[in-house]
Amino acid sequence: MTGPALLIGQTLDFPADPFHAPLPEAARHDSRGAVLVENGRVAATGPADALRTAHPRASLHDYGDRLILPGFVDAHVHYPQTAMIASWGKRLIDWLNDYTFPEEMRFGDPDYAARTAARYFDLVLANGTTTVCSYCTIHPESVDAFFAEAARRGLRVAGGKTCMDRNAPDGLRDTAQSAHDESAALIARWHGRGRLTYAVTPRFSPTSSHAQLEALGALWAAHPDCLMQTHLAEQLDEVDWVARLYPEARDYLDTYERAGLVGPGAVFGHAIHLTDRERARLAESGSAIAHCPTSNTFIGSGLFDMAGLTAAGHRVGLATDTGGGSSFSMLRTMAAAYEIGQLRGTPLHPAQLIWLATAGAAATLRMGDRIGRLAPGMEADLVVLDLASTPAIAQRAARAGDIWEALFPTIMMGDDRAVAAVWIGGAPLS
Ligand code: GUN
Ligand code: ZN
Repeated sequence: MTGPALLIGQTLDFPADPFHAPLPEAARHDSRGAVLVENGRVAATGPADALRTAHPRASLHDYGDRLILPGFVDAHVHYPQTAMIASWGKRLIDWLNDYTFPEEMRFGDPDYAARTAARYFDLVLANGTTTVCSYCTIHPESVDAFFAEAARRGLRVAGGKTCMDRNAPDGLRDTAQSAHDESAALIARWHGRGRLTYAVTPRFSPTSSHAQLEALGALWAAHPDCLMQTHLAEQLDEVDWVARLYPEARDYLDTYERAGLVGPGAVFGHAIHLTDRERARLAESGSAIAHCPTSNTFIGSGLFDMAGLTAAGHRVGLATDTGGGSSFSMLRTMAAAYEIGQLRGTPLHPAQLIWLATAGAAATLRMGDRIGRLAPGMEADLVVLDLASTPAIAQRAARAGDIWEALFPTIMMGDDRAVAAVWIGGAPLS
């Protein structure tokens, strides 16, 4: 076991949610701060000089004026879509049929799944993302590849087999029973092993029969500490299709609600075109929403109501939705969230953007007591950002009057070049 390590740099942490607490209460910035890491966790934070004096034997990692943050948390991704990210010119249903399903078909091959999982984690770690919640494909092999690769790297992740028993091509359909049984076997194999969490994963109502949603609702009820992830109200065509497929349902959310798929631990991707009833029900049920801004612009889905939903007490986290999303970077994703806020007349503060990509996303995955903060007891998954990583960013940041002005150019223009270091479970990635 390695001894304690002391990371020195600027530090930024969020003791409270900046959507609800005033900024001075919500954010704690130290321009010469430190994070003491021991046994895989944050042991202490505070001024660099004081921690250095108190812990003279800790190995020193001085990052200068770089910014130490909790690692980014991506609340909704499709790792099997890595190789077809940035596919041109389609909206959701055609995009699924023409690009996504043919690619997902390949994941019955365990070697292909393993190679893609390894490439995917290389890419997200290079971007400073230390936790993801991923859809896999219909193939249990794709789930095995995802969790095996995450476990090898010591990552805290969630994921699950994507279930579909209709409106998908031959070779990409299971049944209500096989979706239940294969998901149950995967829960037994992976859930709670080390840092791994299983997410019961019906893809979305158009590709599941009511019988399949019910079977997965029963499975989730039997394993309530698993997450449940699915898509909700992403595009208007999709909402209309759901109304035709489920004439008995009150709305899109009701197709899930009738099957027991709504409640704490449920993570709904997108949630753009919601009715008032759906908004109210999502909030009172304690369900969470994953906002996927680069996907929403890339596939042309619509403008998420961040201001309205957070004000109404919804639990919202940020997500890339790769490969519907057009980037692996949570910096790029924050930039897109900012731009959507602008288009709605409600720009997000840099503190809110960083919170959504760390503590906020962690809370949507019910991991907020373990990751997403720089506080004692938290698991030491960290990212260190260079706030002057390109000439364009550097010349703008040089004029900054405070941490928010220094950070915002990196949020808007930064990418993997801004990621100076990543720590997983208390150890630096080499
Ligand atoms: N809705 C159902 N499946 C998907 C998917 O893979 N990506 C996105 N963006 N939306 C979906
Ligand atoms: Zn998605």
